[in-house]
Parts: sequence; C-alpha cells; structure tokens
Amino acid sequence: MAKFEFPRNFFWGAATSAHQVEGNNHNDWTEWEYLNAKRLTLNAQKKNWPDYILKNYPNPLQEENYISGCACDHYHRFHEDFDIVKSLGHNAHRFSIEWSRIEPEEGKWNEKEIEHYHQVISALHERGIEPFITLWHWTNPVWVAKQGGWANKKTVGDFARYVNKLVRSEGFVDVKFWVTLNETNVYTGHGYWNGSWPPGKRSLLKYLKTNHHLSQAHIEAYKIIKSANPKAEIGIAHSMIYFTKFPAGLKNFIYNHFFLRSIKEYQNFVGVNYYFSDRKTIERSEFNNWPIDSDGFYHVLKEAAKYGKPVYVTENGIADAEDKKRGKYITDHFAAMHKAISEGVDVRGYLYWSLLDNFEWSSGFWPRFGLVEVDYKTMERKIRQSAYEYAKIAKVNDTSRLAARIQTEAKIS
Ligand code: BGC
Repeated sequence: MAKFEFPRNFFWGAATSAHQVEGNNHNDWTEWEYLNAKRLTLNAQKKNWPDYILKNYPNPLQEENYISGCACDHYHRFHEDFDIVKSLGHNAHRFSIEWSRIEPEEGKWNEKEIEHYHQVISALHERGIEPFITLWHWTNPVWVAKQGGWANKKTVGDFARYVNKLVRSEGFVDVKFWVTLNETNVYTGHGYWNGSWPPGKRSLLKYLKTNHHLSQAHIEAYKIIKSANPKAEIGIAHSMIYFTKFPAGLKNFIYNHFFLRSIKEYQNFVGVNYYFSDRKTIERSEFNNWPIDSDGFYHVLKEAAKYGKPVYVTENGIADAEDKKRGKYITDHFAAMHKAISEGVDVRGYLYWSLLDNFEWSSGFWPRFGLVEVDYKTMERKIRQSAYEYAKIAKVNDTSRLAARIQTEAKIS
C-alpha cells in the first residue's frame, strides 16, 4: 500500500436504516411515537434552539417532528436515491430490512415485501454497488413487542425463523455482507437501562436478559446465513466510544467489548459505529452536543482490531444542518482511519451515516445527518457540498488532498 492511499477495493459508501428512511412502517417504534410525540415536543420547548434549526421543517417544536410517518419515502424512491449514491462514486451501501414488513403477523410471510427488498438489492447490483444488509436495526414487529420483545427468549427463535426465511429467498442467497444486529449496546441502554426508548422498561434483569438474547440471536443468525451461503461475511454493527476518563478501562470493556466478546467465534468482521469520545472538544455535533474527536476514531479502530478480523466502519457521521463542519469531519476521520490502516488495522470499508437526512429516533427529523438534504415537504433531494468532498476521495481513491494535510500536520507536531 502506497503511503497515503487506502487499500485497493476499499468500500466507500453510506448507510441508512429502514424505519428512519422508508416511511409507512408499522412496528413498535411507530406506536411509541404516537404515544410520546406530545411529551417530546413539550420537552423541546424547554431548550434553546438556533434559528436555522427552527426554520427547518419539521422542527423540534412541532409535534409532527416526532412521528416518522412517510419519513424520506425511500421505500418508493430507492432507485432515485441509488442513482445519487452511484453519482457520488460509492461502491457500497448499507441498509436494513424491516422485520415487521416481512412478518407482520407471527408466522405469516409477506412475499410482496420480500420481493421489494429483492428489488432493492438488484437496484444496487445494477449500479455496481455492494449491499451490506442489516437484519435488525432496533425496530420490532408489534407482535414481538407484545410478547415481551427481546426480554423474552422466544424472540430469539422468532428472529432466527425470519432470518432463515429471508436468506433463502430469491435474490438474497448471493448477498455477501450481512450485519445481523445494529448497536445492541445502545438499544439495551435506551430500552432497558434508562428507559428512554421503547419498550421503555427500566429493569436490570431485563437489560441483562435482552443482551443475552441478542447475543444468542446473532449466533443463530450467523449459523443460518453461513449454511445458506458459506461465502457470506457476517458481523454486527457495534457502537464504540473512545473512553479516556476514569474508569476508562472498565467502560471500554463493558461498552466496547462485552457484547463483541460474546459473539467472537461467530463473526467474520467487526462493524464499528463511531461518533464520539468522552473528551472535551471545542467542535461539537449539533446532535446531543457530541464531541467531535477523530483521534478517538483511530483508537476505537485499534480496539476493534483486537479480534484479528477485518474491520468495516458501518457508521460514522455528524448532524450539521448547514453543512459547515461535515466536509472537514469526514476528511479528519479518513485521516484517522488511514493512520490505523498504516499501523496494520485491516479496515476494508467506510459507510458514512447517513446517506439521507432522516428520522433520528426520539429526536425526530430535526438532526440533519445526511450527505443528501431532504426537503420533507416536497421530498426533494439536494446533494450537500460535503458529499462531493467525500466523492472526490471515493471516486478515485484520491487522497492527495488528505495526504497534503496529514503531512502538514505531521510537520506542525
Ligand atoms: C444508529 C443510527 C442513528 C445514528 C445517529 C446510530 O446509533 O445506528 O440509527 O441514526 O447513530 O444517532
């Protein structure tokens, strides 16, 4: 590998998840949104918001902000969206399948929806884009939620049946990259530890059970996918934070490694979702004031490398409605990723979060993570300047600009 180049065949792309972009889903989150939109709007009134956020539609002071509704209508517009993906020089794309569409009632398969995702996969293949499929990105069919969700062991078997149905369906058998679960640590934290997301149950016992069941679900899914396609590459997308404050070692173990260790014999790659560290930084993301710390990214990639498996960055991104920080954010994180690679970390791909502005869970639509801006009234897409900056690197693996900056920084330090 030449000094400032990324490996050949590196995957460049972006990610989305079904509930956040598709529109018109009906799952446990949908029901939670209707029950909580008013409360979330009232809470938002207690905060100070910059004008440029309030002038966007929908904004945090409007109740519709908290209802996913038709989201980005990506369900109907995926062809158009994938044309954008291709024009930006991406050669990979991560998206998720909505379990509640495939199995709206227990044991009843919706073949039309399976065919829909087959079309999504084909649309990516036709454009020369490698699909990375997530099988579960936090949302559950209502019937799963009613039986106690992931705190109930039965859900493990139900999930396995859904995975089995899907991977053996036409169009799915040849898919190479599978992300079984998204951020189990964030899900259990919000759902069962602090109770701020569905199912909103604060319980240590349920928190532990859910973690265990998700780990079992991954292992079952791994075996099923491998038996359908031995060449498949399977992992999870794992939220990782760079901890520096006492007791950093313990936090690192619990948050970053506990779940990964429980599945370590059953993963072909480690998927890293990285957003922030615990350090005090001057630059912050609009969303939750997350510190922007690209050096922390380097450190979590080194942590991920400890499993001796290839690493894919399955998410990394910033909420930045005016697109003032995103370009630099991306190149800084590329520089950090490059440093990790040059020290031997086998990073094979980078999927920015997110392709589109989308429904940011309990915060609704106001955080703007997209490489592509979405006008929620007209559904018009507008490519942001930072997306072109990313494209310059992705298209020709052109890191000369990046190289120049890394060299300048090296001289300064
Ligand atoms: C999740 C995404 C979310 C993003 C930004 C990740 O934790 O996987 O669904 O939108 O972070 O908060």
